[in-house]
Amino acid sequence: MTGKIYSASTTAPVNIATLKYWGKRDTKLNLPTNSSISVTLSQDDLRTLTTACAAEFFESDKLWLNGKEESVHGPRFLACFNELRALRKIREDANPELPALSKYHMHIVSENNFPTAAGLASSAAGFAAFVQAVANLYELPQSPEELSRIARQGSGSACRSLFGGYVAWEMGQEADGSDSRAVQIATQEAWPDMKAAILVISASKKETSSTVGMQTTVNTSTLFKYRTDVVVPQRFKEMSEAIVNKDFETFGKLTMIDSNQFHAVCLDSSPPVFYMNDTSRLVIGLIEKVNKIYGRVVAAYTFDAGPNSVLYYLEKDELIVLGLLKAAIPDVDGWDKKSYTSSIAPAVPDGVDP
Ligand code: DP6
Repeated sequence: MTGKIYSASTTAPVNIATLKYWGKRDTKLNLPTNSSISVTLSQDDLRTLTTACAAEFFESDKLWLNGKEESVHGPRFLACFNELRALRKIREDANPELPALSKYHMHIVSENNFPTAAGLASSAAGFAAFVQAVANLYELPQSPEELSRIARQGSGSACRSLFGGYVAWEMGQEADGSDSRAVQIATQEAWPDMKAAILVISASKKETSSTVGMQTTVNTSTLFKYRTDVVVPQRFKEMSEAIVNKDFETFGKLTMIDSNQFHAVCLDSSPPVFYMNDTSRLVIGLIEKVNKIYGRVVAAYTFDAGPNSVLYYLEKDELIVLGLLKAAIPDVDGWDKKSYTSSIAPAVPDGVDP
């Protein structure tokens, strides 16, 4: 069969949390137990490229991730897709001259230019690109904030990849999740000299997925409640202020202690969840030492659900940071070949227009 194929492509960036999301209060709607903060990295380095196509002659919905066909029946994929389709249907009902894309099947092709599921926020970029590509195809008028609420249902951290710069995911209070979405704290232009180094210590898939790991923590860790009820609300305020004031010393200190507390509640889970390895700990030791020698925070480390390290630092300190890493851990597998330095993504991520 033949006929017209409607298509739209977009790219979405990776974001790396500096105040970690860890725990869901509602697993179906993907509502978090705490608000979180992240920095969106430039798409020159790490990004997902997604194309969404719809045609009357397509016989079923199909999805390819990095060249491999995947199921379209997963609840997260469907939660996003069904909501986007419903929004398109509203547009078509109001404008009967529009093609009936909401009734057509869709083919989605998505590709990362970095290791998938290795704790490098691939699901964040992936679901953000998926939601943005379909929204572009359907020509939806929804704002990035509203789209972030949809992307959140695919993967929590994805909601933050709809914005560049410095981003907060406000956990919200409503049971239906209508107020659990991302907002921008500051644009990249507001604090442009921030840089990130992504140290790919291992590109293999993590043993415990974030989704499983965080629910083990919610269900078993006794430290966890203290983190969500007492520590994070205060830290959220302090980190937001540090970003607005371009106070790297405070931002860096909070980033490091929050990464460490996140891994502490993982260890406090039963069975314990380990994401860092010996090389990760070597990086922590090195950065702590450098900061001590200089008497200030030169670089701040953070680790997601995997051993790979992301370092935040100011551009003026790039030679110190990268020079030290190379000197101290020259034989880290692939450090030269697979790791990246990145700047921060601009206010509006440069997606490809439909
Ligand atoms: C450690 O967003 O991958 O990177 O919502 O279950 O898909 P799901 O989890 P996901 O978890 C990210 C956890 C983290 C911290 C963060 O990005 O805030």
